[in-house]
Amino acid sequence: MTTRKTTKKAASQAPAATTTGSGSTAKRSTSAAKMHDIFSPTAPDNPPVVEPAPPAPAGAESAEPGGAPRQGPDQASWALAEHFRHEGPEAAAAREAAARSGIVPVAPGVATMLTFLARTARARSVVEIGSGTGVSGLALFAGMAGDGVLTSIDSDPEAQRVARGVFRDAGIPSNRFRLITGDALSVMPKLSDAAYDLVFVDGDKLEYAEYIEQAQRLLRAGGVLVVNNALWNNLVADPANDDNETIVIREALEAVTTMETAWIPALLPVGNGLLVASRADD
Ligand SMILES: C[S@@+](CC[C@H](N)C(=O)[O-])C[C@H]1O[C@@H](n2cnc3c(N)ncnc32)[C@H](O)[C@@H]1O
Repeated sequence: MTTRKTTKKAASQAPAATTTGSGSTAKRSTSAAKMHDIFSPTAPDNPPVVEPAPPAPAGAESAEPGGAPRQGPDQASWALAEHFRHEGPEAAAAREAAARSGIVPVAPGVATMLTFLARTARARSVVEIGSGTGVSGLALFAGMAGDGVLTSIDSDPEAQRVARGVFRDAGIPSNRFRLITGDALSVMPKLSDAAYDLVFVDGDKLEYAEYIEQAQRLLRAGGVLVVNNALWNNLVADPANDDNETIVIREALEAVTTMETAWIPALLPVGNGLLVASRADD
């Protein structure tokens, strides 16, 4: 397990909040409304075009371990994949609300994956950490069973007020969502064991290790964990980078890959990186 360091980034983050989860060692701050997703069209300080950077220069060939050349996707292919599925007007409205609120919603490719995963998991009960203005919630509803219920947690009551309106305008009955205002690490322990088909993590990155620990308890066997921003602006793969958020994300990745009896994981280069993992049978 990596030792977390306190770095220059900590100074620019919001006030610290203490947590007690066993998976963490350093303290972290809650960077609530300032979550940064370089691929989001609505990120306030980013260009409006959603174009995930390719892992290698556009069109470049990279060598496989055996020496054979491999042609990776270029920028146009990444953009095609990211926008493979068109979003409806409700999602567009939720993205506009996010931009107004300074909240960074999931990238379009992540929204597509959420719908896909919720459908393949036949999700009836879903937990979401980080409601935002409801972009990811709408994507989850699009894949969930018709009577499925979304339990969505956010520490920002104003964001949840907007999300409620977004769900209402999309025609989702109010008995299909529970919007819980509060700190995720205070609320998650109150949710029932093995009662959920899917847990989506998009809250405070500094708390990812604890969220995953809680998700393991909340998910049924075969349930799906989905963690957003798992490649975090290409910083996670950069060995020279050791800011707090990156270190915690690496710990989260390590937790699901080393606990092979607990998780069957995959790391997808969609949006800003998406970790998906199926909870293994007991
Ligand atoms: C990246 S945004 C979520 C975007 C949302 N998933 C979407 O796609 O519309 C992160 C959200 O997590 C919330 N948040 C940050 N720290 C939190 C915490 N400790 N507990 C609960 N919510 C938190 C923020 O208020 C913010 O709305």
